Amino acid sequence: MDADLIKLVNKLQDTFHNLGKWGELDMPQLAVVGSQSSGKSSVLETIVGRDFLPRGQGIVTRRPLVLQLIHTPATDSSNGYTEWGQFLHIDKRFTDFGEIRKEIEQETFRVAGQNKGVSKLPIHLRIYSPNVLDLTLVDLPGLTKIPVGDQPSDIEKQIRNLVSEYITKPNCVILAVSGANVDLANSEALKLARTVDPQGRRTIGVLTKLDLMDAGTNALDVLTGRVYPLKLGFIGVVNRSQQDINEGKPMEDALQKESDFFTSHPAYRNIAHKNGTKYLARTLNQVLMNHIRDKLPDMKARLNTLIGQAQQELNSFGDPSLFGDKNQQGALILRLMTQFARDFVSSIEGTNLNIS
Ligand code: GDP
Ligand code: NA
Ligand code: MG
Repeated sequence: MDADLIKLVNKLQDTFHNLGKWGELDMPQLAVVGSQSSGKSSVLETIVGRDFLPRGQGIVTRRPLVLQLIHTPATDSSNGYTEWGQFLHIDKRFTDFGEIRKEIEQETFRVAGQNKGVSKLPIHLRIYSPNVLDLTLVDLPGLTKIPVGDQPSDIEKQIRNLVSEYITKPNCVILAVSGANVDLANSEALKLARTVDPQGRRTIGVLTKLDLMDAGTNALDVLTGRVYPLKLGFIGVVNRSQQDINEGKPMEDALQKESDFFTSHPAYRNIAHKNGTKYLARTLNQVLMNHIRDKLPDMKARLNTLIGQAQQELNSFGDPSLFGDKNQQGALILRLMTQFARDFVSSIEGTNLNIS
């Protein structure tokens, strides 16, 4: 994620946090929607930049995974690690991301069974890292038509309802994932996204598997917005194939291969800079940036009110000459917090949030 945005958002979050107003920022959630095996988990993983989600053929994601990314300063290595995961259901710190994947698999089996069953009970995972900004991503089971294994006959409806619960929220940015090797007119992701976002304002179209299209065909029309209207457009990506996963291909290599794919492809060469996972991550940054910009006037007003309240409280502490007094310490903390909030309000005024 963009370093300046991380800095700005963290400053915002720190300010509200220091003033005891944690959660006031109300950051958007990102949810992935799409048919089974369209590449949803793969896309999320590359956004986070780590290998930790179960992926594969058929129905792998069988419970919602609510993934909270939490920014930690790179200097905060009190426990010897700067990047780790923590589940809600188990009191343990995971520093090995392969172990995180295993735990997700086991926890899926435990609640949703060994076969193909789906449960709406979410798994909650927090990832602490200096490389992320505070953001919630939701990985969801794939939309399906025909029941398999021990799935109930109304599985299609169950999964649709489950997915709808997340994407109906106006604050949810929908990543509608469709495989490029399937006709877009049949995209379950776009059909469902349209029911909650008919104007296509908060839906980003993600086209995966461009490398698997039939020879002689391409998705240029879709990627340039001539097929399906979405305000935020379509972005093509090439994720790791099953073989890449089996061979443990590193993320860096996969990103390089993806970049080569776009720049050397005769149909995509000219739009290569507007496709790929890195561009998708940048676009998400921009969406977040716009969201924050929309909220800034309101946040500034709220901060000013809080500063006013703190000032009044400060005045009530009276004589500041009593060194070491409990009141005196309280006053000092308040004074520092107030100064911090004040500096922040002026930095908002000086920040140009229009990104090119
Ligand atoms: P999900 O079920 O939608 O979460 O899909 P997964 O991320 O689990 O991916 C399903 C399968 O498709 C895996 O075997 C992935 O390796 C493969 N896959 C996903 N995206 C791509 C892609 O862009 N190209 C290729 N070749 N394979 C992909
Ligand atoms: Na899958
Ligand atoms: Mg999945």
